[in-house]
Amino acid sequence: MVEAIETLLEERRRIPPPAAFTAAARVADATIYDEAATDFRAFWMGHALREISWFREPTEILDDRNPPFYRWFADGELNVSYNCLDRHVAAGGGDKVAYTWIGEPADEERVLTYSDLLAEVSRCANALRELGVRKGDRVAIYMGMVPELPVAMLACARLGAAHSVVFGGFSAAALADRINDASCNVVITCDGAWRRGQVVPLKVLVDEALVSTPGVEHVLVLRRTGQEVAWQEGRDVWWHDVVPAASPECAPERMNAEDVLYLLYTSGTTAKPKGICHTTAGYLLGCIMSHQWVFDVRPDDVYWCAADCGWVTGHSYIVYGPLANHTTGVMYEGTPEHPSWSRHWEIVQRHRVSIYYTAPTAIRAFVKAGDEHLARFDLSSLRLLGTVGEPINPEAWMWYHSRVGRGECPIVDTWWQTETGSIMIAPLPGVTTIKPGSATRALPGVVAQVVDEQGAEVPLGSGGYLVLKQPWPSMLRTLWGDDDRFVSTYWSRFGRDVYFTGDGARRDEDGDFWLLGRVDDVINVAGHRISTTEIESALVGHPAVAEAAAIGAHDAIKGEQICAFVILKDGIDQSVELRGALVAHVATQIGKFARPGMLLFTTDLPKTRSGKIMRRLLKDVAEGRELGDATTLRDPAIVLAIKSQADAQLGR
Ligand code: PRX
Repeated sequence: MVEAIETLLEERRRIPPPAAFTAAARVADATIYDEAATDFRAFWMGHALREISWFREPTEILDDRNPPFYRWFADGELNVSYNCLDRHVAAGGGDKVAYTWIGEPADEERVLTYSDLLAEVSRCANALRELGVRKGDRVAIYMGMVPELPVAMLACARLGAAHSVVFGGFSAAALADRINDASCNVVITCDGAWRRGQVVPLKVLVDEALVSTPGVEHVLVLRRTGQEVAWQEGRDVWWHDVVPAASPECAPERMNAEDVLYLLYTSGTTAKPKGICHTTAGYLLGCIMSHQWVFDVRPDDVYWCAADCGWVTGHSYIVYGPLANHTTGVMYEGTPEHPSWSRHWEIVQRHRVSIYYTAPTAIRAFVKAGDEHLARFDLSSLRLLGTVGEPINPEAWMWYHSRVGRGECPIVDTWWQTETGSIMIAPLPGVTTIKPGSATRALPGVVAQVVDEQGAEVPLGSGGYLVLKQPWPSMLRTLWGDDDRFVSTYWSRFGRDVYFTGDGARRDEDGDFWLLGRVDDVINVAGHRISTTEIESALVGHPAVAEAAAIGAHDAIKGEQICAFVILKDGIDQSVELRGALVAHVATQIGKFARPGMLLFTTDLPKTRSGKIMRRLLKDVAEGRELGDATTLRDPAIVLAIKSQADAQLGR
């Protein structure tokens, strides 16, 4: 790893903030960093009292008596949906547009003002209460990108039930696991979701999942795609039968600052996903402040975060941050390539989008698709661009800057995680000199460092492990039902008060951060985290497979693609059909987005004397590189055999 870190290309371009941008920016000078560093507790408390509307103001700031079980603003009371909706309507801002939603099928558009959203959320909350949802319950949400998805999230928040949104690309088996882990009693879904012109039959997948989820009492189903669906009387309820008829008034529950707001499952280094647990006030504050600082949002902005609400980016930067900040947003149902690669630019032009936030994988795909897809659109409304999810390569960055941003828009490269809840490392666009490929520096109130194996900070210019050394309000509080795993995953490697991110990073001579990817067995495919073990256990669950190893191999568009090495059971022959069946099997077990892009049959795997698979050698094989040092293998000759088997299958 150190080797990889030290060979990182030196990127020398530096782009200071445009003077006109700085002149109008919300944060126009660097004093905010000093203010936060002088007394981070007072800093966060000041913002908490100013930016959140409390039912009861907190007097406690940070309880750090029992690290890593930190508590923020623990005697405060509030409701997140009140902060996102009611307070804006009460202040006369009800007519402002909250979302302009654009459907995937062409010409579909819905405009929801803050008043509309408040009424719809209240109706949905009342309907959920009728279905038995109570404060403290967990509700699973498995929907496409329709306005009712944020409505459902906010309705849960209103009632004090934790939502657990499961991305619509996950399979029935993955959904069932997540429902059971959190013992959800209600599931909210759609008949289907539009994806690239096709219907993803969500209700069918829910029905399949619910065969093994005894705790679910009701399923609330939104009609979206209109096809026939199977119906279980007594359990299944149509959204259109209960929500429109419910009262548009529903008093928001008084929640404690440390009550759970939501769970969101993410991959770790084992096959079992982790239920990241976020609580109420600190999470909200992290979203509010980072959204103001990093995106510089102003009242007249049209803000578009092109993520899916199924991931944390959608939670923090489509729903909670923007709505709490009374922002006007665009929400799009589909993916960027359907019906053509022009779709996003057409939307930017039509809706005069001023802030656009997407993932490097999308940018690389735009580059590949060709400039003709954006050339005929007027993108002059854009004033700020953002990226998230993985390191961005300087070429893609330069394209984004010059073609999309006309060379005028600052780009905020935002580093954060499901666990951190909100952005941790990113430029302040009116202040920071940006460098293509660097997330620059930690936000005010966040202390990030790069450390060596012993936890000592490395000198500027070198690489190591990225850690966060001071608690922050939007930090995860635990893993659902598993405090021990919470401690051992994040707070053991360098001590109970140092958060280990799992990422490698380097700091340059100016102290700016360059992210270098995961240092554990987690693959980042198109900005989505998938663990190697998750893929491996899916594969060995297939009757033909004896053993499997999965790695991430470089991919020009997706960043990494999953590459699986599979040993078949005795007597089973490799074939193209079997390869297809195994790839499909991973899709059923986890989801289509986790399908291996490369699946190779081998007769052995490179193992050390202690039996550990040497993934670095498999990476060399997959990427067609010269093999690295294999001397610590039990049988060094094996890797040559694997390489020739792989080369034969790949036609190399
Ligand atoms: O490896 C880092 C990468 O994505 C991981 C977090 O994934 P997830 O929890 O799914 O959240 C993604 C959206 C916040 C990190 O550990 N990552 C995220 N943002 C960046 C990044 N890597 C480099 N640069 C980024 N800006």
